[in-house]
Amino acid sequence: VRDGNGVKGMVDLGLSKVPEQYIQPPHERIVKLNASVHELPPIDLSKLDGPDHDQVANDIANAAEVLGFFQVLNHGIPLELLESLKSSANDFFGQAPEKKAAFQKGLSPSPHVKYGTSFVPEKEKALEWKDYVSMVYTSDADALSYWPNECKNVALEYLKTSTDMVKKIVKVLIAKLGVTLEDSKFEALIGLRMVNMNYYPTCPDPELTVGVGRHSDMGTLTVLLQDGIGGLYVKLEEDMDGEKKGEWIEITPVPGALVINIGDTLQILSNGRYKSAEHRVRTTSSQSRVSVPIFSIPKPTERIGPLPEVVESDGVARYREVVFEDYMNNFFSNAHDGKKSLDYAT
Ligand code: SIN
Ligand code: FE2
Repeated sequence: VRDGNGVKGMVDLGLSKVPEQYIQPPHERIVKLNASVHELPPIDLSKLDGPDHDQVANDIANAAEVLGFFQVLNHGIPLELLESLKSSANDFFGQAPEKKAAFQKGLSPSPHVKYGTSFVPEKEKALEWKDYVSMVYTSDADALSYWPNECKNVALEYLKTSTDMVKKIVKVLIAKLGVTLEDSKFEALIGLRMVNMNYYPTCPDPELTVGVGRHSDMGTLTVLLQDGIGGLYVKLEEDMDGEKKGEWIEITPVPGALVINIGDTLQILSNGRYKSAEHRVRTTSSQSRVSVPIFSIPKPTERIGPLPEVVESDGVARYREVVFEDYMNNFFSNAHDGKKSLDYAT
């Protein structure tokens, strides 16, 4: 792992059993659930611009309150681009190990691009079965010069074509709290954006490993493109249509749809009304999986705390105010551990 081959490099060399450092303790393992799969109807985002605006806004806020996850269709991102993103991810990870290793921390030509494996390997009790490349957007010129050739154009296009959607969703969510914010505040809440490409190689024994361990996302809103393999599970924080609090439900892939999830920042701003849900990813033995998230996070200097109007109506502030940079540094210096990242703001 430390030589930059990643999990994929290790699997490609031939592997009949899971190496010790990837074996999860029993309570973290994901036993393939053959229980009923809960199909959540995707939300048609184009309807936000028509006569059904209020209904769709309600659906979005309701999903954010109950599950913290929903899927969207007619999101404004061309379907061919989604296909190109998946194939670019496969192209990047399909390269020889030394090509990818050139983007490892310490070797990467830019501090904004990083190829890695697992999440915080030096802190994890068991490693995650996943490789990734992370690309932080600062400017077009920086992206075009330093992001990997296999994915820079499509990743940049994905960021740009998703901006409107991200803004629209965040605006709806804030408006549904009964709060009005200035445009500059919205910009600051999604002021830093990054695209990741995740690769989950096949695993000889999926029930011993996790692709990603239980965690919540730290930012404002995550947009996620997943391929058709499946394996993304979300933990219910409230009972929902016959499913019980504490159960894991799968976000089943819907062709052409994008998955949207609430991050810790929105949970804090909303004083806990919106859920930054715990989620995790299962590995599979027969096919590798790719996913391509966009994280929209606050500007590092932004102060994040429960919105005063919400605190006033709730009668209590459930979180303290934090400088986002401190929140982020804390997030990246600990292994994934459910919703523990939120403790930093409690
Ligand atoms: C993640 O939440 O870190 C990854 C989600 C996915 O790959 O589906
Ligand atoms: Fe996540």
